[in-house]
Amino acid sequence: MRIVRLSLANFRNYIRLEVAFPAGAIVLAGPNAQGKTSLLEAIYLFTHARSPLAENDRQLINFLSLREPEPYARLEAEVENRAGPVRMELRLFYDRTAAGEQRFRKEVLINSVRRKPSELPGIFRALLFLPQELRVIEGAPADRRRHLDDAVAQADPAYHTALWDYHHALTQRNALLRELQENGGDESQLEVWDEPLAASGAALLLGRVRAVSELEQLAAPLHRRLTHGAETLALQYCPSWDPARPEEEPDELQRELPLDAAVNRARWNEEELCAMFRDHLRRNRTLAIRRGLTFAGPHRDELRFLANGIDLTAYGSRGQARTAILALKLAEVEWIRRRGDEWPVLLLDEVFSELDVRRREDLLGDLVRADQVLITASDPEMLPPAFRKSAHSWWVESGALKPGRDLT
Ligand SMILES: Nc1ncnc2c1ncn2[C@@H]1O[C@H](COP(=O)(O)OP(=O)(O)OP(=O)(O)O)[C@@H](O)[C@H]1O
Ligand SMILES: [Mg+2]
Repeated sequence: MRIVRLSLANFRNYIRLEVAFPAGAIVLAGPNAQGKTSLLEAIYLFTHARSPLAENDRQLINFLSLREPEPYARLEAEVENRAGPVRMELRLFYDRTAAGEQRFRKEVLINSVRRKPSELPGIFRALLFLPQELRVIEGAPADRRRHLDDAVAQADPAYHTALWDYHHALTQRNALLRELQENGGDESQLEVWDEPLAASGAALLLGRVRAVSELEQLAAPLHRRLTHGAETLALQYCPSWDPARPEEEPDELQRELPLDAAVNRARWNEEELCAMFRDHLRRNRTLAIRRGLTFAGPHRDELRFLANGIDLTAYGSRGQARTAILALKLAEVEWIRRRGDEWPVLLLDEVFSELDVRRREDLLGDLVRADQVLITASDPEMLPPAFRKSAHSWWVESGALKPGRDLT
């Protein structure tokens, strides 16, 4: 898998950019705040049209364009996957509704044909390594869920659809729960949202549980290598509604999510799970109305990282968190490679400044086997000399790229 050509208009600090990328290793060097990370972000957007670096898509449009009457950003790429070349285009823009109100739109075109954003996953696969990824371990459960969702959605387009369906059904159901809480009414109106919530929720739960179990198997040996055998990494998916357990008082569930490696959740069957989740939603309707929200389900689940049995989110050191996240990311590369039967494009943002020399070489040794690797470095000295010699390089300055500066 590789990106052959990229063209940007009004994306972040790139007013206009046209660039052709070779295969192999590419270093994007240059001072701070020039557009190195934004370039990786632009490429990553072709995976599933969602940026882990932006709170909302409007932030991706260039500031200057936002002052114009019709602000827009356009990203075009030619990528090459196993099946051949594909042209992809993302358009972010404002238009007007029939009532004259301005509204934000996101459009996706594949080989010049309009498609839904949910049809993107699986065409172009890439993994983005970010220095702030420590947040996956140190941050809130939502950070961990989002990280997992991004990885699974790339490997499995059906999961991506389930994610959209779930969030839509959840938003609608919660709005109805608040309405029933405030004004009362017939509880059976919830039926219309319980059904799609249970179906998509079962797909999410199963997709995540299976992914976590497979990722753990790949991450554990990598982690052992990175810690020189000193630590063993375990990943645990902890559902807020757990069909493997008898129904407990939901307050209890929220306080202490179950920690139990003995339950093999990967064996669940999606239809059974859907029926059980629907049943759970039904039985807890009165409580949900009292609270005005859906209090359990994949949107409240937790992913735990344990090193030698110790929860890294609660007790891990910075270094331990860094090593665990690196092992997880490397496992994701391998997992997505196996799923798609080809290497994803690797986008490494300033990862080397976080690592000691031995780990830099370890990491590069693993990753340069990919078809294409783009690495940003504000200080290219951080990169091992042999690697600098063999890589293509670009100099990034004020939203423009100049090829060929010698990094050695
Ligand atoms: N929507 C936008 N419009 C215009 N400029 C933007 C927009 N969003 C971000 N920027 C600016 O783009 C610049 C480049 O940011 P980017 O994060 O890509 O830099 P970088 O080269 O990776 O820097 P560093 O080495 O510090 O990581 C920053 O100055 C940022 O403020
Ligand atoms: Mg950067």
